[in-house]
Amino acid sequence: MISAEPTATDLAVERDRRHVWHPFAQMREYLGMPPLLIVAGRGGWLRDAAGREYLDGNASIWTNVHGHRDSDLDAALRAQLDAVAHTTLLGLAHGPAAELAAELVAEAPAGLEKVFYTDNGSGAVEVALKQSFQFWQLTGRPEKTGVIGLSGAYHGDTFGAMAVGDSGAFHERFRPWCFPARHFAAPSCAEWGGVVREADASASLAGLRGLLERDAGRTAAVILEASVQGAAGMRLQPPGFLRAVAALCAEHDVHLILDEVFTAFGRLGHVLVCAAEGVTPDFLCLAKGLGAGYLPLAATLTHARIHDAFLGKFSEGRAFFHGHTFAGNPLACAVALASLRKLRPLVADGTLARRAAVFGREIASLHGHAHVAAIRQRGFAAAVDLRRADGAAFDPDTRAGLQACLRAREHGLILRPLGDSLLLVPPLCLDEAELGQLVARTRRAIDDVLPAL
Ligand SMILES: Cc1ncc(COP(=O)(O)O)c(C=O)c1O
Repeated sequence: MISAEPTATDLAVERDRRHVWHPFAQMREYLGMPPLLIVAGRGGWLRDAAGREYLDGNASIWTNVHGHRDSDLDAALRAQLDAVAHTTLLGLAHGPAAELAAELVAEAPAGLEKVFYTDNGSGAVEVALKQSFQFWQLTGRPEKTGVIGLSGAYHGDTFGAMAVGDSGAFHERFRPWCFPARHFAAPSCAEWGGVVREADASASLAGLRGLLERDAGRTAAVILEASVQGAAGMRLQPPGFLRAVAALCAEHDVHLILDEVFTAFGRLGHVLVCAAEGVTPDFLCLAKGLGAGYLPLAATLTHARIHDAFLGKFSEGRAFFHGHTFAGNPLACAVALASLRKLRPLVADGTLARRAAVFGREIASLHGHAHVAAIRQRGFAAAVDLRRADGAAFDPDTRAGLQACLRAREHGLILRPLGDSLLLVPPLCLDEAELGQLVARTRRAIDDVLPAL
């Protein structure tokens, strides 16, 4: 009997299944699913080993800005590769990091003029927290150690980020190793199709005010995802909420750490949400779209007055002793620069706003569907909560969201569920027809599988 040689695809799939422990996965479930091996991408599309094309409906975990294999970004990456792939920021400088820092500062609200690089969003948050804590120590207020976050917050999976987050299901078992943090209730806000349908921040802001009035003297910082809490299922904040939180922080002499890891770089139609809303945080955390979905890169921006508190003689030990090996990698910075330069005109000439309006209209067409309990959408971020036709929630083990996503693959669409919500987070380069296909394929997947569950 002649046995066929395994193909490269067979080998890759076999090795993946044997050796790779996937993030956020129940591995028994993953291993029971049909494998999907991605081999190429272009624009908003990914291609698998069998040549099938899929819309990248979650922008490769919320990172992709201009599409895959964008010619401008590819050229910037190749040019930097011809110079040097990596050289450290520990004691040395390089052009791409310096140039990008200057351009980020130019985009940021006035005063944010120091840029500390890392290589992922959790790291950017850790840096903001540690710089805030150390700033208060260095300026004679060591008792200011507390942190206040928003209910449902997600800031990443490292210990500091978990401590200030409130993603029960993800992090609860690690609570014993996390420092304590308090949380105030999130505001309520329903919006889709560009229309705010309900908004109430009064109880939320009263909660924050209460915590600050009691405890500002022992609080270092309030940390907040700007405008949309992505991993909470696209929980939206009412217009003006960010500004009100910033005002409370300023009134009580508490730092505001703004986490724009998810929302910056066009995701909500702006380069930076804080700049668009006229809010100047004490720390601004950036990642995901910063590297345009090409390479890992993150940055924490802060003020000269905070940076300058760390200055002193070496022996005083005031330096910020924190750093990551690949922080500010030149390849990543070169791509980030090209991406930022390409993004600015899309924001300025209204292209992104027009595309987001199309996305909103398409998403709105799911409202009233028998299996759609709720929709939340702002910019290029949307959540569609699923339910049974009788209005009840699915049994969690039915994995209705996952079933819908698996079926979506058969319709040429990659989505990732959050429980029984479908999160639609497309690359910003999709045209009107592609945005229509994204929602039409989502609807088809829902119609195919949910009635039978
Ligand atoms: C708002 C926010 N902050 C931080 C993070 C963590 O980023 P990373 O996964 O790069 O560590 C995420 C990731 O989804 C996020 O959405």
